[in-house]
Amino acid sequence: MVITSEHILCEIKNEVLLITINRPDKLNALNKQTIEELHETLIEAENRNEIRAIILTGAGQKAFVAGADIAEFSDFSVEQGKQLSSNGHFKVFNFIENFSKPIIAAVNGFALGGGLELAMACHLRVVSDNAKMGLPEVSLGLIPGYGGTQRLAHLVGKGKAIEMIVTADMINAQEAYKWGIANHITTQDELLNKCFEITSKISSKSPTAIKTAIKVINAGYNTKLNGYEVEIEEFGKSFATKDFKEGVSAFLEKRKPNFTGE
Ligand code: COA
Repeated sequence: MVITSEHILCEIKNEVLLITINRPDKLNALNKQTIEELHETLIEAENRNEIRAIILTGAGQKAFVAGADIAEFSDFSVEQGKQLSSNGHFKVFNFIENFSKPIIAAVNGFALGGGLELAMACHLRVVSDNAKMGLPEVSLGLIPGYGGTQRLAHLVGKGKAIEMIVTADMINAQEAYKWGIANHITTQDELLNKCFEITSKISSKSPTAIKTAIKVINAGYNTKLNGYEVEIEEFGKSFATKDFKEGVSAFLEKRKPNFTGE
């Protein structure tokens, strides 16, 4: 049974893990405990072969996640601030970005600060038409500390990222779609259905190929790597997988493949 903890609710449906961040009275703000619980859940999800994809959302009608918990860091020192940021990067944000199974953010309302950073760390984003997104940290005398300065620029380009960060402006669902932050927009009622429609396609494909594709795409954003060289290497390695043999056999035998993720 997947861990359901105080602030993290888990449900498995059709090989998909639905994770709900559950602090609705604080608009699902990410406190230390929520970061730890999310990390534990992700580790378990990584190790369970039957889980093919993850959908991540927020509890309630109002917010996905309204940011890091402001009350919790109000008296932090420089060292504590650094620790807060690096702990989050390591345990949740980078962890999600490099996760071997696709993670979809179902953005069901406010996604601010750490909330937008969480959505941007996910592999894709489906947003409801009431969603409001932004990185308002400069209003608090801070900068984004969970990867927002980097991932926003990757998604929308440097100019728009600088504008959003230095003005602290929120954007709506249509703007997020226009700028490439949102892959799809739905009504709030249809949000999870749209996510499950995407995961149903993912679940029928090769888990090893999907894991490799995520790794190679991410390699292109790693300044220490050459994405093209990583692609050549990983493309070659694919021929040694059981999934490759199964995929090609199924095609030639005119049947559906049964991928095992090996
Ligand atoms: N950290 C801690 N608590 C938060 C929070 C956060 N990031 N965002 C919201 N909350 C809490 C509020 O303090 C309030 O708690 P309370 O009822 O105990 O006072 C509760 O969630 C509801 O929020 P509230 O501000 O009353 O809702 P609202 O509808 O008036 O405003 C927002 C919604 C999202 C505009 C507003 O909550 C907000 O600006 N939040 C902070 C966003 C932010 O700066 N995030 C980046 C943090 S680095």
